[in-house]
Amino acid sequence: MKLLKDKIQQEGKVLSDVVLKVDSFLNHQIDPMLMQEIGEELANRYSDEIITKVLTIESSGIAPATFLGLVLGAPVVFARKRKSLTLTDNLYSAQVHSFTKNEVNEISVSKNFLSADDRVVIIDDFLANGEALKGLVDIAQQAGAHIVGAGIVIEKGFQQGGDKLRQEGLRIESLANIKSLANGKVEFFD
Ligand code: G4P
Ligand code: NA
Ligand code: NA
Repeated sequence: MKLLKDKIQQEGKVLSDVVLKVDSFLNHQIDPMLMQEIGEELANRYSDEIITKVLTIESSGIAPATFLGLVLGAPVVFARKRKSLTLTDNLYSAQVHSFTKNEVNEISVSKNFLSADDRVVIIDDFLANGEALKGLVDIAQQAGAHIVGAGIVIEKGFQQGGDKLRQEGLRIESLANIKSLANGKVEFFD
């Protein structure tokens, strides 16, 4: 997606060989015009599918997911990150291991908002090691929902999450796929 790639080149800050900061339009301040284009592009990528629900995770997945939901006319549900490992009755939950923070977090979604009748697309802002995406797949599977695929704003293709999950059969559409962040420069796959 050219508009997104241009924005990353113009405003993204390469913090290291593995971390890209995009807080001016995605992770802190949000550019709603760009988010609208992202929602439309994601809907186009999945125009061959019926989708009844958009599933994401707080906080930075919510903006792109909501604009997709608006285009599709489908509700958006976001997994909550819980501090406590205490399980509550009416929740689907999954463990998400964060390599960056070296901790395991529980994420959860109310059983009221996801069911076996749903055809789900899973959205997130970044795909790195794929742990968050795996947790969301786990939750959708617990609900018995049909997983249509995933939509990612920025994939870091030099990390293993995307390849691993595609090999397991998950369809993943990423709007910008980064090949390298070496030497302070963002390089994309075509
Ligand atoms: P990890 O296994 O390497 O930890 O990656 P994971 O995909 O679990 O991501 C952990 C958090 O870091 C997620 O946000 C993810 O979106 C974000 N992230 C991963 N790589 C990058 C990067 O290069 N740049 C930026 N800006 N974020 C990255 P989160 O902690 O859940 O935050 P938020 O969604 O509340 O913003
Ligand atoms: Na995220
Ligand atoms: Na994030």
